[in-house]
Amino acid sequence: MKITVVGAGAVGSTTADNIARKELCEELVLLDIKDGIAEGKAMDMMQTAALLGFDTKISGSTNDYAKTAGSNVVVITSGIPRKPGMTREELIGINAGIVKGVTQNILQHSPDTIIVVISNPMDTMTQLALQSSGIPKNRIIGMGGILDSSRFKYYLSVALHCSPTDLQAVVIGGHGDTTMIPLTRLATYNGTPVSNLLSIETLQKVAADTMIGGATLTGLLGTSAWYAPGAAGAALVESIVRDERKLIPCCVHLDNEYGQKDICLGVPVVVGKNGWEKIIDFKLDDEEQAKFNKSAEAVRGMNTVLAAL
Ligand code: LAC
Repeated sequence: MKITVVGAGAVGSTTADNIARKELCEELVLLDIKDGIAEGKAMDMMQTAALLGFDTKISGSTNDYAKTAGSNVVVITSGIPRKPGMTREELIGINAGIVKGVTQNILQHSPDTIIVVISNPMDTMTQLALQSSGIPKNRIIGMGGILDSSRFKYYLSVALHCSPTDLQAVVIGGHGDTTMIPLTRLATYNGTPVSNLLSIETLQKVAADTMIGGATLTGLLGTSAWYAPGAAGAALVESIVRDERKLIPCCVHLDNEYGQKDICLGVPVVVGKNGWEKIIDFKLDDEEQAKFNKSAEAVRGMNTVLAAL
């Protein structure tokens, strides 16, 4: 098994670090456009192998895509991250050009790969990767919902004073501060609906905090977060390479599921060795469906930029 992570910034290198620690592949390539950074981070990570006890071989490359040849999975994290006060959407102009070029370079050397898109604005970048690659839709997966759901569980765990691992909670819709939809109605604490345990006001606050979860961290850190995005990216890759068939909220191309089509948006999907295997299309209530439709409209608005590329 061979995995490539494109972009050796904070999110890319943390994703790679998690992939290596979990030994998800024999060979892991980290690629970046900046001279020496991928080689340096790969070497630094390799020097943790004896301490952490993993056998994955990590190598770095400065923009030489030949080194990525034959990858089974490629994770794209390239592009600029947001600064405090910026939305993910504001990155679109610069990142679209970068992600389009990366996708084409990757497919030249790994035509059968599954692509995981993390670059922002993620929903539009996933659509772009799908459009510019022409590969089957099941092999393009945007990583956002798994991260947002983990943040949702974090805020719920604080409100409930419980372990985040005892919670089931899902965020669907876009990966944007105003487009994501934390499904509070369906969240449970080991099977008990959280709505039985928390007031409506608290649940609304948890949902609001979840939606600006990334922005809160950008404000604190001065750049966007990396530990949770890196762990989420690696968890998604794990379900692919170990064929776990986990049900994960991911950004995928919809074809009338959830009443939407011709758009990539976050929904619960089964993730396995073929990429995303199927969408679990369960019935939203009227309020949730209205939010989902609104989210789709906002993402569609951003996607219009792609026509000019
Ligand atoms: C975040 C970025 C990775 O949500 O989109 O932190």
